[in-house]
Amino acid sequence: MDLSGLHSIAERERHSRKPNTIRCCAAMGCEAARSRQVRVALRSAVAAAGRQDSIEVQGVGCLGLCSAGPLVRVEPQGVMYQRVTPEDVQSIVAAVDGGTSTAERADLSHPFFTLQYPIVLENSGKVDPERIESYVAEGGYETLYHVLREMSPAEVVDEVSRSGLRGRGGAGFPTGLKWATVAKTQADWKCVVCNADEGDPGAFMDRAVMESDPHRILEGMAIAAYAVGANQGYIYVRGEYPLAYDRLQVAIQQADRLGLLGSRIFDSPFDFRIDLRIGAGAFVCGEETALMASIQGQRGTPRPRPPYPAEAGLWGKPTLINNVETFANIPPILKRGGGWYAAIGTDKSKGTKVFSLTGHVRHTGLIEVPMGTTLRTIVEDMGDGVPNGRALKAVQTGGSSGGCVPASEIDVSVDYESLAALGSIMGSGGMVVLDDSTDMVDLARFFMEFCADESCGKCVPCRVGTAQIYRLLERFVAREATESDLVLLEELCDLLRSASLCGLGQNAPNPVLSTLRYFREEYEAGMASIGASRGLIREPAVVGRPA
Ligand SMILES: Cc1cc2nc3c(=O)[nH]c(=O)nc-3n(C[C@H](O)[C@H](O)[C@H](O)COP(=O)(O)O)c2cc1C
Ligand code: SF4
Ligand code: FES
Repeated sequence: MDLSGLHSIAERERHSRKPNTIRCCAAMGCEAARSRQVRVALRSAVAAAGRQDSIEVQGVGCLGLCSAGPLVRVEPQGVMYQRVTPEDVQSIVAAVDGGTSTAERADLSHPFFTLQYPIVLENSGKVDPERIESYVAEGGYETLYHVLREMSPAEVVDEVSRSGLRGRGGAGFPTGLKWATVAKTQADWKCVVCNADEGDPGAFMDRAVMESDPHRILEGMAIAAYAVGANQGYIYVRGEYPLAYDRLQVAIQQADRLGLLGSRIFDSPFDFRIDLRIGAGAFVCGEETALMASIQGQRGTPRPRPPYPAEAGLWGKPTLINNVETFANIPPILKRGGGWYAAIGTDKSKGTKVFSLTGHVRHTGLIEVPMGTTLRTIVEDMGDGVPNGRALKAVQTGGSSGGCVPASEIDVSVDYESLAALGSIMGSGGMVVLDDSTDMVDLARFFMEFCADESCGKCVPCRVGTAQIYRLLERFVAREATESDLVLLEELCDLLRSASLCGLGQNAPNPVLSTLRYFREEYEAGMASIGASRGLIREPAVVGRPA
C-alpha cells in the first residue's frame, strides 16, 4: 500500500456514493432503542420506493444526542430525526426530495449541536465504523503515511509535546512527556497499550469513540508506536462493551488486509501489530499496572510505582499506555500540527474534551467542547437546563474519583486546574447533572459502595476503609449518625487518601470530601441530635443516581 493506493480507495468510495444518504446511528445507545429495526425498515422502504440507485442507508456511529435515539440524519439535506420508529421510515424516505416527514425532527440549531467542537468526534456519525473504505475516504491513514515517510520518531514526539495534549484517562499527564520517556528507554522490545477499560459510573465517551470511529484509534496507536519504537500494540477493552470489541476486531482485520498494520507498513521498515484483550469487569483493571498484570494473565491488582510502565511495563519492557481519547486525538494533531491544537483551550489545558452529559438535564448525550468552556454553557445551553421545574444543585464530574461542583460555581471554566481548585476533577469525562431533589449524602454513599465493591483488597486502608466509610455513610442516610461519626468519617477519608496503594483507594474519599465541603448541612441533618436541634432533619431521600 502506498499513498496512491489510499487515494484510489478513497476515490472509489466517493464515486460509489449515491446522491442521498440516510445515516442511522448504529452505536450502542441507539441500538438499545431498536435502531437496527429502523435500519432494516429504512432499507425496505428505499427498495419499496424503487430508490436504491439514489438513496443509501448507512449505519454510522454516535450522532450525539443519545437520549433522543434512534437518531437518523439525511444528507445532503442536513435534516436529523429523533426517536425514529420503523413506522416513521416511509415518510422519511418520501421526504428525501424535499417534502415534510411526519417523523420528529431534531433541532440542529440548538446549542447542543452548534457549540460542539468536534476533533475526536469529527468522524462520529459520518463514517461507517465497519468499513475501512469509509474512513479512508475522509483522509484516514494518510497522516500515518506522512508520519512514516516524512518524519523522524523524535519529530513526532516533539509535535505531540507542542500540542500540549494531556492524557484523557483521568490524571491529565502530559502525553508528549510520556512518549519521550518510552522513546528514550533502551530495550529490545517495547509495546503500546490502549486503555479502553472505561469503568467510571456515568461515562461512555470511549465506548462511543470505539463504536463510531475505530480506525482512528488504530491510526493513533500506530503513530505512537512509530514514535516510541514499539512493534506490538494491545487494546484492553472492557468486557461489557461487546459492540466496541467487535468493531475494533473488524477494523484490525481490515487494516491488516490492506497492509496498514503488519509488516513494512507503507513500504517503510516499520512493523506494527495490534491484538485485543478483554477485561473481565473489574474497575481496578483500568489502573495501568493492574491492566498490565491482567494482560499478562495474572490477577488484575495494582503494584507500586515506580517503576512506571514507560520504563518497565508489560513483561518488564517499556510500555506506552494511553487512553482511547488520547490516541484518537493523535491523527488530527499530526495532520494539522501541534501548534494548531495548542491554540484551542486554556493556557494549561489544551484542545477539546469529550464528555458524556447525563443526569437531570434535558439533553443528555455525547459532547465535545474546547477546554475552558464554562459549566454553565454545558448545562444550561447545551444540556438545555434542568427539567421538571427543578433547580440545579450540583454537577458531579470525574465519577467515583471525582467531586461535585455546586450550582454556585456554575461559571467555572472546565479545565484540569479550575475543577481541581473546586475539589473536583476532570476525570475521564463523566458529567452528571444533579437537581435539587438529590440527596448528596446518599450520592456519596453510592460512590463509596462502588469503590468498596471494586476495591481489589490488596491494601488494608482501601479494603477496610472503603467498607467502613460506606457503613458510616449508611448511618448518616438513616439519620442515626453521631458527631463522633463525622470526626471518624473525615479521619478515614484522610487515611485512605494518604495510605492507599493506588488511585482507586486514594481518590475514593473525593465524593465524600467534596459533598462535605459544599453540603455539610446535609451530613449534619444525618446526625440525629444535631439535625433535630437545628431543624435539619431531611425529607425522605430522593436519590439522583447517575445514569
Ligand atoms: C482505579 C483506576 C481506574 C482507571 N481506569 C481507567 C480507564 O478505564 N481508562 C483509562 O484510560 N484510564 C484509567 N485509569 C488511569 C490509568 O491508570 C492511566 O493513567 C491511563 O490509562 C493513562 O492514559 P492517559 O495518559 O492517556 O490518560 C484508571 C486509574 C485508576 C486508579
Ligand atoms: S487502593 Fe484499593 S484497589 Fe488499589 S491496590 Fe489498594 S486495595 Fe487494591
Ligand atoms: S448512540 Fe445513537 S446518538 Fe449516541
